[in-house]
Formats: sequence, C-alpha cells, structure tokens
Amino acid sequence: MGCMGTAAWICSPEADVALRVAQATLAEHPTDPLAVGTAVRRALPGISSDQVAAAIQQATMRRAAAERYAIDARDLFLTRDGLEQATRPAVAARRAGLLTAAGAQTVLDLTAGLGFDTRAFLEAGLDVVCVERDPTTARFLAHNAPRADVIVGDATDARLLADLLGRLDEDDVVFVDPARRDPLAPRGITSMRARPERDPERWSPPWAYVAAIPHPRVAAKVAPSFRPPVGWQAEWASVQRTVVECAVYSWPALPVASQAAIFGDDDVLVLGATGDDVPVASAVATWLHEPDPAVLRAGAVSAVIDGSPGMAMVDVDSTWLTSSTAPPAGLGLRSYRVIAEILGDRKHQRRDLERHGVTRAVVKCRDTADDPVSVLRTLGLLEGPGHVLVMTRRAGRTVSYLAEPASQRPA
Ligand SMILES: C[S@@+](CC[C@H](N)C(=O)[O-])C[C@H]1O[C@@H](n2cnc3c(N)ncnc32)[C@H](O)[C@@H]1O
Repeated sequence: MGCMGTAAWICSPEADVALRVAQATLAEHPTDPLAVGTAVRRALPGISSDQVAAAIQQATMRRAAAERYAIDARDLFLTRDGLEQATRPAVAARRAGLLTAAGAQTVLDLTAGLGFDTRAFLEAGLDVVCVERDPTTARFLAHNAPRADVIVGDATDARLLADLLGRLDEDDVVFVDPARRDPLAPRGITSMRARPERDPERWSPPWAYVAAIPHPRVAAKVAPSFRPPVGWQAEWASVQRTVVECAVYSWPALPVASQAAIFGDDDVLVLGATGDDVPVASAVATWLHEPDPAVLRAGAVSAVIDGSPGMAMVDVDSTWLTSSTAPPAGLGLRSYRVIAEILGDRKHQRRDLERHGVTRAVVKCRDTADDPVSVLRTLGLLEGPGHVLVMTRRAGRTVSYLAEPASQRPA
C-alpha cells in the first residue's frame, strides 16, 4: 500500500480499532513500540506491516501532541513534520480572536498544514478556506478540521490564488504560515543549507510571495528572528519564557506597531512598545530583573519601565533592568536580589565566589559572548539552582553579579 493508501486507511473507521489498541498499549509501554506492534497484530491479524507502522506512528504522535500542548489529541491525525510546525493552540486562539475582533468573517489559510491554526479560526466562529500542498497532510487536515473547505494545491499558483482571493471581502484575512524547514533536509546539521528557517526567501512560500499578496489584510506567522518590514505590525509570543513565534499583520490589527504577548497558564500579558526613551541606571541597585524574551524582541522594555517607578536599564548594551525596590508583579520579569559584584579576572572571581560559599550556579550571559559551560568550569562551579551569576555589559565592559532568585529571599 502506498503512502496515500496508508494515509487514507488510517483515517478510515477500519483503522479505529488498530489506533485504539496502539494508544492503549503505548500508554502502558511508552518506550516499547514492539509491544505496541504485537498488540495491534494480535487484535487485527489481517493487518499489513505498513498499517501496523502507521497505527504505531499515529499513537506516538498523539502522545507527543498531548505532552507538548497538553491537549487531548486522540482524534487528530498527525505527522512528525506537521506537529513540529504546528501552532500552539493558545497562541492560535489568540490570533483567531484578533481576527474576529478586526471584523473578519472568513480566513483564507494558504498553508494550513495539520490545521492547528485552522481549528482555532473555526472555533472562533470564522469560516475557513484552506490550501495545503502535501496530499497526506491535506487528508489529515480535512479530518482535523472537518468544517473547513480544504483545497489540495499550491498557494503560489497565481490562478488558484486569484480565484480564492475573489471569495473574500476586504475585512477578511489571508493567513500564511510558511514552512520554514525542508522536510528533506538532513536533521541535526547547523549550516544555512540545512536550516532554511533563517532565510525568509527560502521559506515555502517565500516572504516575497507573502508580502505581494494583493489583499488589504494579510497576517503571517514568521520566525522569532524575523525583522518585520516597514508598514507591518508585529507581535512576539512567548510560552514559558521561550519566544515561539512572531505574528505579523499588514494592517493596523494591533494597538501598537510592536508588542509582546506572554502566555501564562490561563492568561496572556500584552506589553506594547511605547517608543519612550528608556532610562539608564547610574549604578546597579539591589535588584536585577530579566525581561521576558518576547519583550526584548518586541522592543517593549519601555512598557515594563513605565509600569515600575525607579526601574532603569543596566546599560544601553544590557538586556537587564535594575531597581532598589522589590520586583513588581505582572510585567513578565524574573527578578534576582544582588548579593555582590564579582570583580577581577577569573582567578579572583573564583576566590570571591568561594568566600560567598557558592558551589553551584546558573550563568546568565546572553549579553556577552561567553559560553556558560566554560564559565562554570573556569570558576570551579557546578550548574545548579540557588545562585545566579549575571554577566552583562556596562560602560563598554563585561560586569558580573552574584545574585539569588527573588523567591529565595527571606520573608
Ligand atoms: C508551518 S506549516 C503550517 C502549520 C499550521 N499553521 C498549523 O498550525 O497546523 C506549513 C504548511 O504549508 C505547506 N506548504 C508549503 N508551501 C506551500 C505552498 N506553496 N502551497 C500550499 N501549501 C504549502 C506545507 O506542506 C506545510 O504543511
């Protein structure tokens, strides 16, 4: 049975028993695919080896989806590549909410993949027309988002695009989430050749295509490192202090040109770039604060400073903030109480840290060119919680501070 034949079979009612057995066995033996295969063959003796492999793969993917997104993925059909590129449901839900608030009724999702964004658009009450180039992915998409109109095709086909744009009103939105990795590229190789995600013109479809879509409202999901062109608004989303994506809008969908959306367990903190100058501290005070990485990407540090009187940047070349008062809540900061500045060369620093009784630390050196592992080694420290060594830039040189997380200070 060919690839499409197996994809069709796995979505059919006939495969249901195989999937249920595979999922139940995998739950009992999470690291033993052989046990899963044996259980599926025992339950369905006539099944082919391709079908057994497909059932094991789906069960494994669904488990990975549940672990990654904490959602019930039991009814979704997934591929490894599609899952790796899928939008997190909370992030997709926020985007869908923005589009409905902007008055859209229909979304044309030109690179729909497995449909994680599509499902959020549908959930928000939007009509969705989807395009997906890969036939297996499109089959799974049709299953995952049954209310969407799914077209198997190439979004860069000018006739297809013109036809689909003709179905939209001007308040409707074209959404593009380009594939940023080549499924055929070797994994684990760090050259540009194997990592097209760094080059927007090597995405599929490329950025030049997205920017030229002749519709007044185009939204796109792009890499966090993307620099939005003039005229596009941007929102960087972070989950557990990792920037997961940047969303760009060709029209004023957001209140400011650039903002951060920090996703918590049940809420989203939005901080917009105010454009105000940020003050630089005359000295590092009692507290050091680490802004959320989405805030740094969005250039929204001014919003954090506006919300916390007395707070200032450590330096124009530093991503750290400092203040003499306790950390304010609700600004996405991680705060540390400064114990001492650690001066001198590595030998002096090592002695100084010994004097402070430090044996383990976490090194934070995003502002310098240092490698945390070699810093720990030369300072004779193990990596571990308790103390933090903040290395940053001030007045043109690297400065280091021993600090402890805010939650550790005595009440
Ligand atoms: C990043 S994934 C989309 C993920 C999706 N937004 C989700 O959250 O599930 C991009 C998808 O675009 C598809 N694709 C790439 N180039 C395309 C093109 N020219 N036309 C249509 N689909 C394309 C890929 O096959 C892939 O499934």
